[in-house]
Amino acid sequence: MFKKTVVTAMAVAVAFGATACGSSDSGSGGSGGGGEDGSITMGFSQVGAESGWRTANTQSIQDSAEEAGIELQFSDAQGEQENQISAIRSFIQQRVDVIAFSPVVETGWDSVLLEAQRAGIPVILTDRSVDSEDDSLYETFLGSDFVEEGKKAGEWAVENWGSQPTYVAELQGTTGAAPALDRQEGFADAIEGTDNIQVVASQSGDFTRAGGREVMEAMLNSNPQINAVYAHNDDMALGAIEAIEAAGKVPGKDIQIISVDAVRDGMQALADGKINFIVECNPLLGGQLMDLAEKVVAGEDVPKRVVTEETTFTQEQAIEALPNRQY
Ligand code: AHR
Repeated sequence: MFKKTVVTAMAVAVAFGATACGSSDSGSGGSGGGGEDGSITMGFSQVGAESGWRTANTQSIQDSAEEAGIELQFSDAQGEQENQISAIRSFIQQRVDVIAFSPVVETGWDSVLLEAQRAGIPVILTDRSVDSEDDSLYETFLGSDFVEEGKKAGEWAVENWGSQPTYVAELQGTTGAAPALDRQEGFADAIEGTDNIQVVASQSGDFTRAGGREVMEAMLNSNPQINAVYAHNDDMALGAIEAIEAAGKVPGKDIQIISVDAVRDGMQALADGKINFIVECNPLLGGQLMDLAEKVVAGEDVPKRVVTEETTFTQEQAIEALPNRQY
């Protein structure tokens, strides 16, 4: 039908134990400036391990900290905001030099960020931002423009799906997470006024492959007219492909798919013709994060917002890019 185009709250103790990268004996002051010997300790609270993107992001942060000689206290929140809050409080108690985190959801951070500010510990947001009226609670936000990613997905949809009736299933990311909210908004803005494109079902698959499969199965049962998918990440798109094939349909043909991330498995599915278009979201933020941390700890000015540069991939471009894809 389509034109063919191409910690468990990283329990506080654990946050500084088993998963810590490097020793937990930072010996640093915690009020900026690093240790007396110039060493820097960063407390980092990660969302979890929900996707291929997240795994690549964690690896990038751990490798970059080691390269920069920054001692990393790494805590995995296993997708729970309360675990992130516990980890941040623990970092404050330990008086780390800088705290960085990728907020699992957008709201509910003001109190703990205020605690960090009162303790004189600078905070860097990475990957995802917070929804707060007080932007003095953090030094800088390093990450993608998720609205723009959704817009790029929607623009491709308008160009490639807009001339025939298209019934879209939207697989949303984690409820309340910035990339889920923003990618939904960007896509909706881009398709607005295109009568042929309708989002007929929209539900969270929590950014996981299992979630994508489960939600897609249910959507195909209740909406047999679905002939397109917009997945907020590759993992959910890959789960949706399994559900589409199990329903006896051909992903990429009977049901076309747009996704976000461009991790290796997603790019392979794009090259194989099972996904039709991917908007890149770059997880390799570690190097920039360590540079920003060094500046912030030294008391240097940093931009309030650092946006990651990203591209998009068609099936042909995926075939070309795959051999050199780093993640
Ligand atoms: O915040 C970035 C998003 O989180 C990625 O797009 C998704 O795969 C991850 O889980």
